[in-house]
Amino acid sequence: MPESAIAVPRFMSEVPEGTDVSETRKGMEMLGFTAEGDEGLFTQSLNVGRVLAAKDGEGGSLYKQVIVEIGRRATKSTSIMATLIGRAMARPGYKAVVTAQSGVIASSIILEHGEMLENNGYAGYKRKTSDDVEGDGTMRLLRNGGREKIEFSNKSVIWCVPPTAAAVRSKAADDVWIDEGGEHEGEKGQSFLDGVRPLMDTRGELAQLILSGTPGIARVGMFWDALEDARKGTDPDDGIVDYSLSDEEYGELDPRPWDDLSEEQQEIERAVWRRIHPGPSSYKPDGSTLTSVRTLERRRAKMPFHQFVREYLCYWPADAMTSAIDMGAWAACERPAVSLPDKWAWAYDVAPDGSAAAVCAAWRDDDGNAWLEVLDYRPGTDWLPKFVQAHRGTQRFGIAYDAINANLDPAAVMEAFKPRVKTNGLHMSKGVVPAQARFVRELNAGRIRHSGQPTLTTALEGARWRESEGGRLFGRKASANDVAPAVAASLALHVYDTDVAKRSTGGGFTGMFD
Ligand SMILES: Nc1ncnc2c1ncn2[C@@H]1O[C@H](COP(=O)(O)OP(=O)(O)OP(=O)(O)O)[C@@H](O)[C@H]1O
Ligand SMILES: [Mg+2]
Repeated sequence: MPESAIAVPRFMSEVPEGTDVSETRKGMEMLGFTAEGDEGLFTQSLNVGRVLAAKDGEGGSLYKQVIVEIGRRATKSTSIMATLIGRAMARPGYKAVVTAQSGVIASSIILEHGEMLENNGYAGYKRKTSDDVEGDGTMRLLRNGGREKIEFSNKSVIWCVPPTAAAVRSKAADDVWIDEGGEHEGEKGQSFLDGVRPLMDTRGELAQLILSGTPGIARVGMFWDALEDARKGTDPDDGIVDYSLSDEEYGELDPRPWDDLSEEQQEIERAVWRRIHPGPSSYKPDGSTLTSVRTLERRRAKMPFHQFVREYLCYWPADAMTSAIDMGAWAACERPAVSLPDKWAWAYDVAPDGSAAAVCAAWRDDDGNAWLEVLDYRPGTDWLPKFVQAHRGTQRFGIAYDAINANLDPAAVMEAFKPRVKTNGLHMSKGVVPAQARFVRELNAGRIRHSGQPTLTTALEGARWRESEGGRLFGRKASANDVAPAVAASLALHVYDTDVAKRSTGGGFTGMFD
């Protein structure tokens, strides 16, 4: 297996040399899992086990709060539960509380793992009637609806609670584990977390709060806040294991449906999956993997893109809080203005309320850099068809636009001119979505060139992402400024790359202006 095919965490806390993961391994064995990895654990389980087990100089937990973010079905829950079971076995009288986004889900976590222990022969503790499950007497699973519990013969206990502050009041626990952290709602999640912390006050230096899950639907809430803090690493008590896609890597992916991607683009995406989702590099003893790339392909083909990247690649949806553009990268791409070359593409865009419109040009220079220029940006739209008509003499290609709402009228006016001014209306999945993805990709690769026109810089500065079914877009409402110049510039570049660049400019040209 090539090195690059192994998933690697984007953030992982330092773990002291010689950290002992025997608790995680013991729990995994009891649950009936082995793997072809170090210590018989999948790499991600080993990483989770190591961060959870890391000790400070005095033998206390090095990380009092640990965040685990790994894609769906990547053995997060199993790895953490295994660790709690291992601790219950090793420390008589140990107490752990498990919760999730609802009490029902918390119960099912206890039931599911308790039954695995039963099936592997560990039941039978305090067995009274023949209805009680037989076993070696290590533990028993109490199935009282909503109060499921695993009791061990050494007086250790792992139980579940619903995620409310009232449910945990005046209890005490060594460890508290909150699973599916991303699903806990904003205020409620935070007040629950605040209610949970005191549980561990009197339990000594080993006590640990564990938060795990995949991203929520927006970059807010307790899991996001805890994750961001741990990523920054400002609090030495925070530990983290985070397999996730960065904003920059997201920009490199093509959000179109899987089957619409070229073989090359699919291969680029598969390489990203292998790096971020541990499934394809988690080998079981029989040589099969936890999740195959083919399974991920099926999920990608069936789910909306934004949901796939959220659940499998742990990409938190960009929201109104997130700037779409790295303005540092934009500033670094500024160069003295140059004149328009022979061949260039153009596009226009109108603000949704018709208050302003922009016309932009794009082309590539001999070094392959993509130049963007605002030809004009003015209030209203009356000027737009005339402007395009006046400039069509210098331009052989139809002007591109995003074929929705306020953009449709000016196009109709141009098409009705005699002689006709040809336009090129693009639909979302073939137009604005890939255009904006291309723009961000080129910008992050340092291949954009511009002359620092304030209209374009201002539009980009205020640009915020909006997630839609078809992919990620500059949000027209979400953005702080009118994004029309940014939309027009990215469309122009997209049309240049996908169409104009491939056309001959020589004699006999039959371009879009015929
Ligand atoms: N070492 C292992 N070998 C084989 N299968 C395993 C192993 N560890 C866990 N599994 C199985 O893999 C599946 C996914 O594991 P788990 O539920 O822990 O993942 P998860 O990351 O919590 O997923 P989700 O995001 O859906 O909650 C489960 O069916 C689990 O029993
Ligand atoms: Mg889980």
